[in-house]
Amino acid sequence: MAETFDGDWLALREPFDAASRSVALAQRLGAALPARARLIDLGAGTGSLFRWLAPILDRPQEWTLADADAALLERAFAEISRWATSRGLPVTASASSMVVRTPKGAWRVEAEVVDLAAPLSGLGLNRRDAVVCSALLDLVSAEWMTEMAAVLKKPLLACLSVDGRDRLYPAHPVDRMVFSGFRRDQQRNKGLGVALGPKSPEALRAAFAARGWTVREAASDWRIPADAADMLDMLVASHGEVAARRLRDRREMVRAWARLRAKQVDRGRLAMRVGHRDSLALPPGLVIEGE
Ligand SMILES: C[S@@+](CC[C@H](N)C(=O)[O-])C[C@H]1O[C@@H](n2cnc3c(N)ncnc32)[C@H](O)[C@@H]1O
Repeated sequence: MAETFDGDWLALREPFDAASRSVALAQRLGAALPARARLIDLGAGTGSLFRWLAPILDRPQEWTLADADAALLERAFAEISRWATSRGLPVTASASSMVVRTPKGAWRVEAEVVDLAAPLSGLGLNRRDAVVCSALLDLVSAEWMTEMAAVLKKPLLACLSVDGRDRLYPAHPVDRMVFSGFRRDQQRNKGLGVALGPKSPEALRAAFAARGWTVREAASDWRIPADAADMLDMLVASHGEVAARRLRDRREMVRAWARLRAKQVDRGRLAMRVGHRDSLALPPGLVIEGE
């Protein structure tokens, strides 16, 4: 069964996601797409990737937001509507789709409840011009990635996969232990097989390169400054909780670490980098205009 994600957590991370994703890879995807582009966003959640990528692609677009969680998809429509209206873009919505009107053409958005644990050949991925996702591919297994590489014939933009290069500033001697407990949890089965966690970017590269695809990558780290207290609080608490669960014999040490780190957040004395990578995989023979 798919793990559930809290919509408020997705909202808290959205500005960090937006500041971190690689605009250069998104523009390269744009250069590979037709004048009217159809995209499917796997594990779309509340539509954060749409709000970031649609303006960069800047042309008529048809999006399918695909997710296991119907409540997140419902929230996606509400958030897209609020976001578009605040930018002066008119929105029309029906029960199953919405249209955002922009000076460069309409963006039609539909939602589809899907379980990505089902065979990927049933998702109609190749009826679209590209498959995109954000903060999803570290949840999938190596087998899932191999299946995706076998099924897919269209470009894939996978944003914000964790790569394990996490650091707190200032460093503390217990950080390494906490991060290692946290990383173990990132590789837990979250409904899509034993999760790749920080091995996701290299697994993507290997699976697609083996089939002759061109894979480009860019660092997309969250750089969380000391004044982003809500985000830091959430990360310190979740790292502490998960690590304490994973490292039972060192639970007290982890809890003391979490208390100390929370105090540093309170005083504006802690900052963090969370290592991520964006990957763009292009099928063999795809010609990009201007290259
Ligand atoms: C970390 S969230 C990322 C959401 C969104 N892409 C973003 O960047 O804000 C992962 C998303 O994948 C979805 N998901 C997880 N497992 C799934 C599955 N088996 N099938 C479909 N969606 C799944 C979750 O519901 C959640 O919305």
